[in-house]
Amino acid sequence: MLPSVLQPNATDHVPVLAEEVRRLLDVQPGETVVDATFGAGGHASLLAGDLRGSGKYVAVDRDPNVKPYFESFRRRAAVQTRFLSGDFADVFERLADNGVGADAIVFDLGVSSMQLDRPERGFSYAADAPLDMRMDPSADLSARDLVNEASERELAEIFRSFGEERYARQIARAISRQRRKQPFERTGELVDAIKGAIPAPARFGEGHPARRVFQALRIAVNDELGALEAALPAALEMLRPGGRIAVISFHSLEDRIVKRFFRREERGCTCPPDFPVCVCGREPSLRLLTRKAVRPTAQETATNPRASSARLRAAART
Ligand SMILES: C[S@@+](CC[C@H](N)C(=O)[O-])C[C@H]1O[C@@H](n2cnc3c(N)ncnc32)[C@H](O)[C@@H]1O
Repeated sequence: MLPSVLQPNATDHVPVLAEEVRRLLDVQPGETVVDATFGAGGHASLLAGDLRGSGKYVAVDRDPNVKPYFESFRRRAAVQTRFLSGDFADVFERLADNGVGADAIVFDLGVSSMQLDRPERGFSYAADAPLDMRMDPSADLSARDLVNEASERELAEIFRSFGEERYARQIARAISRQRRKQPFERTGELVDAIKGAIPAPARFGEGHPARRVFQALRIAVNDELGALEAALPAALEMLRPGGRIAVISFHSLEDRIVKRFFRREERGCTCPPDFPVCVCGREPSLRLLTRKAVRPTAQETATNPRASSARLRAAART
């Protein structure tokens, strides 16, 4: 019997833009689907269903806590399944190096509801817990390390670029002052420092005052943008001709990485624009299936607020 905290629960995580992902990936019987971000297996259940009893479903996640969800998925799935634990950038590079081919690849980036809702993981500003935020609990760097060891300037840069935090400098300064007296250990201490650093009216503005700093730290601790940058070329290498890739992002920086990568691969040629003829000879390797990012409907965001910042882009291998 699994501890109750690990029991797969149907209400745990609602897959975002699920029907749109299914339509764009258009999974067919006999194909191989690679899921870069298995989570609770919400997208997996739907996409594996589209294999209609024949094909392969490869699930990847860097959080070993998803294992019970995978076991439950494996028991229900009528197709061959496999779980690969690790950062999707490393796993994909390994798969691509070993010549593994995929017909459909899905990325549903960021954290899962289970990670956010389990206070002991330290992702949430809503509960006092150890300052952790590692998706992979065996990873070297935690939020505690970053908050106590990064320079004031580095912290301000993280809060500004990954969190679009207006008071990045003031918050970094408050953290730097406070940690000289005593290092930060808990999320509650960080929330108090953030609240104390921003002007009173801003504390009652849009959303929780610590939301942007927590998002920024999470992105930095898990090197989320670096992992995405490294994984996309490896995913492309794995895609068979005609194979489809779909990426759901929740942050403009992630979406920009996906958009630029897709556009570059759609163009093929990398010659400077003032060259009269192409000399690089690179052919397009992707055809866009979405010109603009697909956004959730008002109905979806009403029932699943986590979907509100989601953007989906998809492309097919030429
Ligand atoms: C938004 S959830 C995915 C939810 C899933 N699509 C579902 O429907 O249940 C994101 C998952 O991706 C994992 N993840 C995020 N970045 C990762 C990375 N670089 N490598 C592997 N897994 C990652 C997280 O641990 C989390 O479980």
